[in-house]
Amino acid sequence: MLKEVIAGLTSTPKTLPSKYFYDQRGSELFDDITELEEYYPTRTERAILKKYVDEIESQLGQNILLIEPGSGSSEKTKILLKRMSNIGCYMPMDISGDYLLKVAEQLQQEFPHIEIKPLSIDYTQPFKLPDDSPNARRVVFYPGSTIGNFKRDKVDQFLKVIYHLVKDGGAFLIGVDLKKDISVLEAAYNDKKGVTAAFNKNILSHINSVIHSNFDATLFEHKSIWNEDKGRIEMHLFAKESHEVQVNGTTISFEEGESVHTENSHKYTLEGFAQLVSKWFEVKKVWTDENQYFSLQYLVPK
Ligand code: AVI
Repeated sequence: MLKEVIAGLTSTPKTLPSKYFYDQRGSELFDDITELEEYYPTRTERAILKKYVDEIESQLGQNILLIEPGSGSSEKTKILLKRMSNIGCYMPMDISGDYLLKVAEQLQQEFPHIEIKPLSIDYTQPFKLPDDSPNARRVVFYPGSTIGNFKRDKVDQFLKVIYHLVKDGGAFLIGVDLKKDISVLEAAYNDKKGVTAAFNKNILSHINSVIHSNFDATLFEHKSIWNEDKGRIEMHLFAKESHEVQVNGTTISFEEGESVHTENSHKYTLEGFAQLVSKWFEVKKVWTDENQYFSLQYLVPK
């Protein structure tokens, strides 16, 4: 963390890696975000899953091994596990081993007819499934439009990892957030209750608690901005006044109004996303809501 934080804060413009949002408090704040009125992605994706679960089931075919990288609480996946009869095994994957095992145990009780096989790994690096994995059709499920948070080069790295996992007749079911009115997008990331602001500022408290640094979150203001050229919402922390922060002996100076860029959340058109994945996957089927705010896409390896 120290290396990445120093590298980010000594670059121009200043940045921090968005993965550091997620300590215990950050994960709780993110859960709160998903319930905000302005934050449409979670409830829209859930509604798409519920509405089209029968079509999804027939699209996926028989004898499925459902693999979910970054599964967290597996909340959305439960919609599929409950309603689909073709999933023989569910493999949730997460970096946080203890939490993963707890969730897996609960899932096994709730779905005794499905084999639950948790895997504690960092899925952003290339990995293989365990040798005793069932011989079934591999379908990777990646909801939430988390792909939108990746840098462009990381997107390709990730798609390559998934491609190798499913290339022998498997598929990739992914949630993708779509471009829409800027006012809807900016409201979703600048909510009135200030939950997203607290989530953004929590990155500073998290960093303070892990490395030797003295960020004062009250000296920063949260703001999310739509970047039209890059097709993304950017989250920033703007310094309210000029001040200095000590990071393990290195002094970082902030000017008044200077930003720390903490997150990107890319949004896509359907054509743009098909183009983005086209080196590895072909888009076979797209389900969306009536406003075309969000999409669930069924991709097959090329
Ligand atoms: C996790 N990820 C898909 C969220 C998003 O919408 O990009 C993270 C988030 N950041 C602010 N609000 C939500």
